[in-house]
Amino acid sequence: MKNDLRSEKVLIIDFGSQYTQLIARRVRELGVYSEIRAWSVDPEEIIELNPTAIILSGGPESVAQGNSAPSIAPSVLTMGIPVLGICYGMQIMASQMGGAVENCDRREFGYAQVKVEHASALLMEISDRVDESGDELLDVWMSHGDNVSRMPDGFLCIASTESCPIAGMADENKRLYGIQFHPEVTHTMQGSEIFKQFLFQISGCKPSWTAVAIIDDQIARVRSKVGNSNVLLGLSGGVDSSVVAALLHRAIGDQLTCVFVDNGLLRKNEGFSVMEMFAKNMGAKVVHVDAAEKFLTRLKNVTDPEMKRKIIGNTFIEVFDQESAKIKNVKFLAQGTIYPDVIESAASNTGKAHVIKSHHNVGGLPKDMQLKLVEPLRELFKDEVRKIGVELGLPPDMVYRHPFPGTGLGVRILGKVKKEYADLLREADALFIEELHAHGWYEKTSQAFCVFLPVKSVGVVGDARRYSWVIGLRAVETVDFMTARWARLPYDLLERVSSRIINEIPEISRVTYDISSKPPSTIEWE
Ligand code: XMP
Repeated sequence: MKNDLRSEKVLIIDFGSQYTQLIARRVRELGVYSEIRAWSVDPEEIIELNPTAIILSGGPESVAQGNSAPSIAPSVLTMGIPVLGICYGMQIMASQMGGAVENCDRREFGYAQVKVEHASALLMEISDRVDESGDELLDVWMSHGDNVSRMPDGFLCIASTESCPIAGMADENKRLYGIQFHPEVTHTMQGSEIFKQFLFQISGCKPSWTAVAIIDDQIARVRSKVGNSNVLLGLSGGVDSSVVAALLHRAIGDQLTCVFVDNGLLRKNEGFSVMEMFAKNMGAKVVHVDAAEKFLTRLKNVTDPEMKRKIIGNTFIEVFDQESAKIKNVKFLAQGTIYPDVIESAASNTGKAHVIKSHHNVGGLPKDMQLKLVEPLRELFKDEVRKIGVELGLPPDMVYRHPFPGTGLGVRILGKVKKEYADLLREADALFIEELHAHGWYEKTSQAFCVFLPVKSVGVVGDARRYSWVIGLRAVETVDFMTARWARLPYDLLERVSSRIINEIPEISRVTYDISSKPPSTIEWE
């Protein structure tokens, strides 16, 4: 098996920054494979990983807290491997090498202008502007309360701001670099250029981590793992399972069987488009199970959202198990687990996680499962999954669609779930999404959908009184779905959506727009 794709890798040592995954993504965007480990990683593991370069992330702790501050194995700084410390990463590097870090009087959060102080390889020929005195300036993003106040021996100051005289430092002989600002966030205009200098000029990496190379590599891995056995995949129509289906179909063709369960709570035309895409166009084996009645019967009269989630989850596993049992010689179950899931699970296992999300993929697996797992997206971030999806020939519409919960419309119909409500909601939702697409707002929002409110409201259509249901529109902007801001959709667009829904769906007499942010609200209504 080809191994060269990961022979060059950047190790990112995580000190708990909210931006750590962003660092890993930036590095990969530049074509270099990267992996994240917690700061407490065993030095032996670092030697085994054999990284080409190391990046130390920022973090919420303070070096000034002394021995209890998270630190790095001293060997990291003496192995001869280039190291870039960002924010806390720079401070801990300074502190462990004999420099000093102080709590500064003026904390810096947000935009800052940095002066390039000394031509180092890291900031070589990188600037946003040159001022009247000929100084090169960078527009950067800062977020810190501590400062390096004295550099270790051998280091030179390479950048400064008014309130942070040592905003960057370098020992070029040892290829050790530190910057107080965050090159990983897009507000740092030259962030990508700085990473390029570090990766390609200083560390000698070559860009090889591309969508085509990742696909080839995964195909080879899957083939060697699976051999002649058959593989089962629960296809939901979401981005991750769709990309897994396309990848596995290319790798093992007919050895893959996808099971698509229609629970009666899907979006309009979902079942049709999944069958069209995977079974008809791609020629994959897809078992389409119509289990709508089973789900809706079990949900009858249930109003509690968590109970609905449980019923939908358990029924799904039951239906999936029944269908799987009909397929012969299945030894593997494929899953769309992606790298953030892996990182979060690892973090929650060590108890060092800052944010713990429920893990949808692994949550439903029985403990005594006989099937072995195939998880070809385990190393990939969502944006990489999308890129390889497009490369595998999936339509961009499918690959760039908003997330849709496993519970489907079940948590978007408030209270009791009925087929009649689901049918109306599907129609309204399809109209809303169609209008967002038509006005260029689908890409500008992270998630948008309709909610069915089981209350009746009076309206007047033509000369007739109408007494019918209410639909809520929800559209949010978010990066991580942990917090979200309601999308500032134009009034004209809202008006058009509302008027189309009320005119085209007689059973709906009123449309509202949800202007709650998360927190304190959540994205879904239940
Ligand atoms: P909330 O409502 O918690 O949603 O702000 C955050 C993100 O998670 C999705 N979500 C779910 N996904 N099963 C899922 O697979 C669920 O039960 C579930 N609940 C919420 C939601 O759509 C949003 O993207």
